[in-house]
Amino acid sequence: MAGSDRFSLKGKVAVVTGAGSGLGEDLALALAEAGAGVAVGDRNGTLAEAAARRIRRRGRDGLGVEADVSRTEDVDRMMAAIEERFGRLDILVNNAGISIPAATLDAPLEVWQRVFDVNSTGTFLCSQQAGRIMVPQGGGCIINIASVYGHVGVDPSVSHPPGNPTREDLAYSASKGAVISMTRALATYWAEFKIRVNAISPGMIRTERLKTAVPGDTWSRLIERTPLKRPGTGEDLQGAVIYLASDAASFVTGQVLCVDGGWLAW
Ligand SMILES: NC(=O)c1ccc[n+]([C@@H]2O[C@H](COP(=O)([O-])OP(=O)(O)OC[C@H]3O[C@@H](n4cnc5c(N)ncnc54)[C@H](O)[C@@H]3O)[C@@H](O)[C@H]2O)c1
Repeated sequence: MAGSDRFSLKGKVAVVTGAGSGLGEDLALALAEAGAGVAVGDRNGTLAEAAARRIRRRGRDGLGVEADVSRTEDVDRMMAAIEERFGRLDILVNNAGISIPAATLDAPLEVWQRVFDVNSTGTFLCSQQAGRIMVPQGGGCIINIASVYGHVGVDPSVSHPPGNPTREDLAYSASKGAVISMTRALATYWAEFKIRVNAISPGMIRTERLKTAVPGDTWSRLIERTPLKRPGTGEDLQGAVIYLASDAASFVTGQVLCVDGGWLAW
């Protein structure tokens, strides 16, 4: 195989969680464009089906499934629907993730638990269920969406001015750190099954939702802090996911690819 063929996902089947909107949808569309049949999982079934329809409109195979990654029964149902429709699963992208900002000194335990339930436990549950398909099938790959905040602390002067701790999100950072550790540990456990496990750590990505959810002056500070002096877009992550899912990355496992405009370079 030569050249761009090594990046082709023709004949492969992928699932992207939390792909009804935001970055997950961009990742699902990229995998479909590269040739994969794609299942779009989302806790919002309407969004999942709409994204799957967009994939089908591009002439690719798309399946929408309503599934909350923190619920075992939902994950089971999602994987069963994928097996029934496609008969296999080659690529799992654990993208579903949430953030619940709260001042650390006041945050109720429920906030910590919910963020971990989705970001870390959800990644575990989907990986476990995907593994139950991939192991007997002879291999596959898992790509976890982590965050630069799983690597380093948050600079308060950038994301929330001092004196305003309500933007803190300790659970988010800790849960993404867990995702990075899980990536490395699972990569070594499942190498014998020919399942590669890698992660992508996005930096500041200006999705439609964050365009309005994050105030303009905060965006200015985030951009100033980013060496490439711009926010990322969903498109910036598309090449990374195709690469890690494809045969071009067949000797790559246990790695974290940071797509962050240089955020972690200083
Ligand atoms: N946007 C960024 O700047 C950025 C930066 C670093 C990391 N990330 C990570 O990228 C991923 C996607 O982020 P985003 O900004 O697109 O998020 P988003 O909030 O815009 O979209 C998340 C999608 O996931 C779905 N979802 C939420 N909880 C779910 C659950 N329990 N089960 C299934 N689906 C669920 C939502 O319905 C939504 O469609 C997350 O893991 C996030 O932590 C984002």
